[in-house]
Amino acid sequence: MAKIAVTRWIPDDAVKLLAEAGDVMVSPADRPLAPDELREFVSGASAVVGMLHDRLDGALADAAGPGLKVVANVAVGYDNVDVPALAERGIVVTNTPGVLADATADLAFGLLLAVTRRIGEGERLLRSRTPWSFHLGFLLGSGLQGKTLGIVGLGQIGRAMAKRAEAFGMEIVYSGRTNRGAGHVSFEELLARSDVVSLHCPLTPETRHLIDAAALRAMKPGAYLVNTTRGPVVDEAALADALEAGEIAGAALDVFEKEPEVEPRLLGREDVVLSPHLGSATVETRTAMAVLAARNVVEVLDGRAPLTEVKP
Ligand code: GLV
Ligand code: GLV
Repeated sequence: MAKIAVTRWIPDDAVKLLAEAGDVMVSPADRPLAPDELREFVSGASAVVGMLHDRLDGALADAAGPGLKVVANVAVGYDNVDVPALAERGIVVTNTPGVLADATADLAFGLLLAVTRRIGEGERLLRSRTPWSFHLGFLLGSGLQGKTLGIVGLGQIGRAMAKRAEAFGMEIVYSGRTNRGAGHVSFEELLARSDVVSLHCPLTPETRHLIDAAALRAMKPGAYLVNTTRGPVVDEAALADALEAGEIAGAALDVFEKEPEVEPRLLGREDVVLSPHLGSATVETRTAMAVLAARNVVEVLDGRAPLTEVKP
């Protein structure tokens, strides 16, 4: 039987599917495996089902051995995968697009509301048992109606975000390589015009530190930044500087540059909302992602084309 190495817990539905195609071995460690542990764990595997915290590269493929046919990343982002190195070795790489767009846009919009309406700050105030009373000037946030949302990267998640923002009465502009019609602007124009900038581009060498000191300075003084894609798209130290200098009004982050670490200066700020990489974290979506990854593995091990291949 083919060995299928799963680097961390996945939902039962996906395990059952995989079990039809081979011997499923799920890492028993409740943490990311260190690189040497990962290499040992995948030894002899025909398929690896990996997580976004795993580095899935040529060294891993060589540790698995010549029988490795497919690496299925249970995430839409695949910046953790060295696709060219795996392709060179004839290994198919897959990801999980589509199934997580709505859940991720829901979380991004939730963060947008939390930061503009100061929900986290208000909750901390109550939990600290600080005396308060309703008054007209208390914890005022920023309204959304008629404001401009700038979407960096209008892929499936970006489009789902646009739909939500339209329902809230926001104007939309977007930047990115693909012009999908009305609202397409340069990145510079997006920064200058947006009241909220929301990041939905993948992490690539071109988007690493896309939001740096200069980009933050180019944003409106009252603007907010929302990041639900990958931490390194934002220079976190520059973001802390910009908030300290009052260059922007606030930020909401679901992902971090050195995940799971968070820039300490951000942790202490009331104008920052933080969540621990929960974009796709619903029962329904995580099940759909794992099942899609499992179906990709089954297809490749059975000699068919996968459903959602990543091409180099
Ligand atoms: C999650 O971050 C994903 O890329 O699916
Ligand atoms: C606020 O609570 C209001 O009733 O307007």
